[in-house]
Amino acid sequence: MKELSLYIHIPFCKTICLYCNFVTFAHKNKKIPDYIEALKTEIKEKSKNYKNNKVVTIYFGGGTPSQLPAENIEQILATIKDTFQIAPKIEINIECNPESIDIQKLQHYKSMGINRISLGIQSFNKKTLLRIARPHDHLTIYKTLESLQKAGIENFGTDFIMGLPYQTFASFKAEIETVLSYNPPHISAYFLSYDTKKIGLFIKDCPQEEEQIQMYEWLVKRLRKAGLKHYEVSNYAKPGFECLHNLRYWQQKEYVGFGIGAHSYVDKTVWENTADFEAYIQNPLLDPQSLKIDQDLDRSEFILLSLRTAKGINKKDYESKYQNLSKLLTKAETYIQSKHLVQTKANLQPTDKGFLIIDRITKDLI
Ligand SMILES: C[S@@+](CC[C@H](N)C(=O)[O-])C[C@H]1O[C@@H](n2cnc3c(N)ncnc32)[C@H](O)[C@@H]1O
Ligand code: SF4
Repeated sequence: MKELSLYIHIPFCKTICLYCNFVTFAHKNKKIPDYIEALKTEIKEKSKNYKNNKVVTIYFGGGTPSQLPAENIEQILATIKDTFQIAPKIEINIECNPESIDIQKLQHYKSMGINRISLGIQSFNKKTLLRIARPHDHLTIYKTLESLQKAGIENFGTDFIMGLPYQTFASFKAEIETVLSYNPPHISAYFLSYDTKKIGLFIKDCPQEEEQIQMYEWLVKRLRKAGLKHYEVSNYAKPGFECLHNLRYWQQKEYVGFGIGAHSYVDKTVWENTADFEAYIQNPLLDPQSLKIDQDLDRSEFILLSLRTAKGINKKDYESKYQNLSKLLTKAETYIQSKHLVQTKANLQPTDKGFLIIDRITKDLI
């Protein structure tokens, strides 16, 4: 049986953060029941195509999945369990925002089999949170971290963004020390990406690139000291606490996405659901255009995704899939000399310094 991952997109948020580029809406709560019904229809119908698969990871992403009543998540999970074959050992993850989660909800999640929580902290700084229009304050984050502990949830990730308004190297260090005092097994720290047109004015309050690099370089060392391995460009985990769902994306494993804007990748074919909320509610089975991945595109994806991870490109896999490993290694030589890449017996790996310019390296190697 082939292994499969499922992604469920929940496009509801309390408010919209200034920097957000995801398919999501505030003030659409009245439409939640319609959306859940549409999701259930999509899951039931499409599951028929995957009778020979077993689901190994499920990821509720957003938007803010925790914005939904836990009963809605339970209904979606029940639909999945009724229609798909589920592996005995499965990772079920849900993205949560501090303002929409409490101990009762966490316990409810646990009882329905959710075994990983991904908590969007972004910053502990009161002024920063206000400036980026986060729907929660710093005190709510502390409460949520305590609730995670009280609910006995061991597998959880905490998300941060580097480069936010009013953030400095010193304040970032203090924020990471704060979260480390809660002993999280997983931390994600992304560089802020933004649409200049949307938030041009806000940029003047953000730290410059050099200061962001300083944060990154410190973070890698500090988290290593705390026992969290830098396993992907923006992700750090204690052994055994890597996010399996995301790892499968980076390993080009198959997944099906449900809900608006969700992506899928099966049988070397990709497709993306409509991002039009009303159109999706009307017909969740709209057939989106798909794209067959040819050998060239597959090779580019393999390089791009492998280089996001600390393991890097497996040389044997590359040679058996695409041949001409020597050409790739010749291209990599400059970056090996400059210590942005390193070659082991099996792999070609980015270094911590390499991760900083991974887009450029990827482009060159492709
Ligand atoms: C799908 S989002 C999670 C959404 C969740 N509602 C939240 O805000 O925490 C996953 C993570 O991506 C990161 N992220 C979102 N927008 C970003 C941006 N513009 N630049 C960098 N990181 C971003 C945040 O750390 C966020 O927790
Ligand atoms: S809460 Fe998350 S998904 Fe919602 S607007 Fe903010 S960043 Fe985007």
